[in-house]
Amino acid sequence: MASQEDVFKKLVAHCKEYGFVFPSSEIYDGLGAVYDYGQNGVELKNNIKKYWWDSMTLLHENIVGIDAAIFMHPTTWKASGHVDAFNDPLIDNRDSKKRYRADVLIEDQLAKYDEKIDKECEKAAKRFGESFDKDMFCQTNARVQEYITKRNALHERFAKAINDNDLETLKQIILDEGIVCPISGTKNWTDVRQFNLMFSTEMGSTADGAMKIYLRPETAQGIFVNYLNVQKTGRMKIPFGIAQIGKAFRNEIVARQFVFRMREFEQMEMQFFVRPGEEMKWFAHWKEFRLKWHKALGLGDHKYRYHDHDKLAHYANAATDIEFEMPFGFKEVEGIHSRTNFDLSQHAQYSGKKIEYFDPEMNQSYTPYVIETSIGVDRMFLSIMSAAYCEEKLDNGESRVVLKLPAVLAPVKVCVMPLVKKDGLPEKARQIMDSLKFEFHCAYDEKDSIGKRYRRQDAIGTPFCITIDHQTLEDDCVTIRYRDTMQQERIKISDLHDIVDKQVNMKNLFRKIME
Ligand code: GAP
Repeated sequence: MASQEDVFKKLVAHCKEYGFVFPSSEIYDGLGAVYDYGQNGVELKNNIKKYWWDSMTLLHENIVGIDAAIFMHPTTWKASGHVDAFNDPLIDNRDSKKRYRADVLIEDQLAKYDEKIDKECEKAAKRFGESFDKDMFCQTNARVQEYITKRNALHERFAKAINDNDLETLKQIILDEGIVCPISGTKNWTDVRQFNLMFSTEMGSTADGAMKIYLRPETAQGIFVNYLNVQKTGRMKIPFGIAQIGKAFRNEIVARQFVFRMREFEQMEMQFFVRPGEEMKWFAHWKEFRLKWHKALGLGDHKYRYHDHDKLAHYANAATDIEFEMPFGFKEVEGIHSRTNFDLSQHAQYSGKKIEYFDPEMNQSYTPYVIETSIGVDRMFLSIMSAAYCEEKLDNGESRVVLKLPAVLAPVKVCVMPLVKKDGLPEKARQIMDSLKFEFHCAYDEKDSIGKRYRRQDAIGTPFCITIDHQTLEDDCVTIRYRDTMQQERIKISDLHDIVDKQVNMKNLFRKIME
């Protein structure tokens, strides 16, 4: 069986070969951690965004959307704390001249202990067969106990150092654990330093004294600075939310794992403004709602888990990640944060404007508290692609690569194929396509054998293929072929619309979420 690492490599190659994701400016050898979405990738991404946007703004009458600019007044980032506190702890290896995130080096070391524990368990499971009891084994095996003790001690020391912003201890942990640079193999480390992740540029000409501005590292601040505008013009009553989808930029030092960690990426964020004191109730509500949204896609409930934060961001009083099981382990796809009234208060202080809400029911004014749901479009894209990518051996000895994408998100919903390029079949196929194309994204393919055409559609995740043959001209029936089961059946052309609609209409997912 292929290792998860091999599967991931194949997935990345597949994304390129089938027009989902290309390295940015590839003809110039690419640009680190920046990617372009191709013809199929952009359709999948747009469908993800629609699923999110509609689940916020259609399903909630108290949530509205905005689209703020990427450039913002530089004081925004002073007020939000990003100028002073949006840092990663970095360390350099003097021999290889390579730079690393100190926290990532230590997290990798923690993962090594986990791998050792798993390996011991696997060996024992083979030895003991069906009677193997993993918990009991971990509690009693001396070697596993030693690994667990070391791992827990490291975790505790690491969490404390991160929380206390203690850069000296971070370096000492790296030395004590004997962590070496993967390139040079040496422990010749510099001290750990903080590195700000924001990209900056200049606005205006330098002769006039240009203003240093930042490319936003999160979309959320565009919502906070527009809080008063939206609340007043929309006559919004608390609790209410503002949703936004847009690009964000971070000068990530450890940029790896394909579109998982990029320097330019896209976020879908919603800030939900609530009464002070009610934030934990709404935090619990949004935690549950967001997980339902993910699970409704049917990628497998066991692939998700919550991860409560040990270290809270400078603005939060509670935070949870929704993690998804990627080929490289469970990883954060979305964050749900209780941001208190930190951002609005800071903007009120720095701008000198009063940013408050008069609550008619309480007959008092206050600065609203905020629950934020923040999900990366690209990470969502990667989670869906990794769950969908499948290599199958078929009964006839052949194999196929199929993307078992949720039908609602598939880039192409229906491929219409005349059996041959003559005898009036292409014309009939075009007629069928014309009847579907205003509602469903359709493709037309008349080249090569039907088998090859099916494989091409499997590889991009098209849920339905429709074949028009000579019989169709007589009985107005076509063969529909289902991607996942590869089953084929003869159906009336007049039934086509409803069969496709049942699977691809987002309405059905929304009903599931609201149950
Ligand atoms: N406004 C809160 C905020 O930005 P975050 O946890 O830093 O919180 C939210 O980011 C989400 O944005 C993450 O869960 C992830 O999906 C996505 N994200 C963050 N950094 C990213 C990166 N470098 N590349 C791709 N996605 C990223």
